[in-house]
Amino acid sequence: MKIALVGATGNIGRQIARHALAKGHQVTAIVRSEKALPAELAGASLAIAPLDDAAALAAVIRGHDVLASAYGPRPGDDIGQIPVVAAQLVAAAREASVPRLVVVGGAGSLEVAPGLQLVDTPDFPAAYKPFALAARDALTQLRPVQDIDWTFFSPAAEIGPGEERGTYRVQARTFLTDADGHSRISYADYGAAFVEELETNAHPREIITAAY
Ligand SMILES: NC(=O)c1ccc[n+]([C@@H]2O[C@H](COP(=O)([O-])OP(=O)(O)OC[C@H]3O[C@@H](n4cnc5c(N)ncnc54)[C@H](OP(=O)(O)O)[C@@H]3O)[C@@H](O)[C@H]2O)c1
Repeated sequence: MKIALVGATGNIGRQIARHALAKGHQVTAIVRSEKALPAELAGASLAIAPLDDAAALAAVIRGHDVLASAYGPRPGDDIGQIPVVAAQLVAAAREASVPRLVVVGGAGSLEVAPGLQLVDTPDFPAAYKPFALAARDALTQLRPVQDIDWTFFSPAAEIGPGEERGTYRVQARTFLTDADGHSRISYADYGAAFVEELETNAHPREIITAAY
């Protein structure tokens, strides 16, 4: 596959790129400035395009099978950019006739009971709430999109560095916890699950998650 990847230099994006390259896919890392790429991206092509320039973004993603995004605001950046970027990615995919868009989402948008999302539960940590609400706003940008096979791929609640187990569970719509009630996954295993979704397109126009 030809995969265009926004946010390829981040914690999650690097793992998506690593798995995609290891499986023989072509990866175009879309970055905002000329920079040395992390080791995980050896073998990827580099393209420079600002996310708020639909024409420039469309030009570099044209001909790819899928646009993937692990974009996230860096510390100090406006969290409100999360839904704005989601809309920009939709616009660019449309303009470039890229038929699929797979976006790293947020666990807060997953349901813990019918009609109740994690972010709306009383114990949801206040520190994460602005991110979770902004991620949900990004999902709101995607929901009405019918002409692109989008997938909003939320990590487990806890995602971070750690071992690559090579196993994980993926499910649509609902929050996923292990036997101890924890929702977690390593960056490495999430990257593998994300690439599996890129390959299978098993969940078009759905919110999904991956966890142990
Ligand atoms: N449990 C959860 O739900 C959960 C947990 C963690 C993360 N997340 C979500 O996952 C996403 C990625 O997380 P992460 O830890 O991988 O983030 P990260 O390490 O901070 O990486 C962010 C990526 O976005 C890129 N980026 C930021 N601003 C940009 C801009 N204006 N133009 C182009 N690229 C830009 C960065 O590029 P540069 O290298 O150029 O800065 C980098 O590649 C975030 O949206 C976050 O909210 C969800």
